[in-house]
Amino acid sequence: MKVPEQYQGAEVPHTLIEALTGNKTALLMGKAGTGKTRALWAYSVRLEARQQEKRKQGVSMDRLMRYDSLMVPAIEIDRRRYDWDYADTLAHFRGLLMLDDVGYCRGHATDWQVAAMHHVLSVRLDERLCTLITTNLDLHDIAEHFTPAIASRMSSGAVVCLGGKDWRQE
Ligand SMILES: Nc1ncnc2c1ncn2[C@@H]1O[C@H](COP(=O)(O)OP(=O)(O)OP(=O)(O)O)[C@@H](O)[C@H]1O
Ligand SMILES: [Mg+2]
Repeated sequence: MKVPEQYQGAEVPHTLIEALTGNKTALLMGKAGTGKTRALWAYSVRLEARQQEKRKQGVSMDRLMRYDSLMVPAIEIDRRRYDWDYADTLAHFRGLLMLDDVGYCRGHATDWQVAAMHHVLSVRLDERLCTLITTNLDLHDIAEHFTPAIASRMSSGAVVCLGGKDWRQE
């Protein structure tokens, strides 16, 4: 896995580890620059290390797949708009799907954004697959930007708020 330079060596916030212990879905909220994307990269590095341990122990391929992770900036879903197969692939990804920066654009989500997000989240909840979502929005804004049904699904597991400063202003 190629971790971008600015995120290398990062530690996973303990609140995120707790959130993903016993929850299939976690929503990581926080203002710009508080370290949300950094936390995702750190978590995927942690998962990869655990996958390597499990591989050495001879764990089956099926179980090893649970330690896969896929980082998807929300903007990538927009870039692939109207590509329903892509949305469906994300919906059925067996490892941890990380949707970064959902609701990044101002105003209301487009019909495509709503349909794709609703599909991805619904399938993953039904199939008990793991999903980690980051956003700058609060729950009320998520409901406004997407729909109340999407906000409900995003917040159906753990909700973690990353407080603190904007590290980009350091
Ligand atoms: N705890 C930290 N210690 C050191 N550097 C940090 C920390 N948290 C974040 N940074 C650095 O600050 C910058 C912004 O972090 P990051 O991209 O994770 O923010 P973000 O919450 O995802 O912001 P946005 O909502 O704008 O996407 C990065 O260069 C990151 O490495
Ligand atoms: Mg980010």
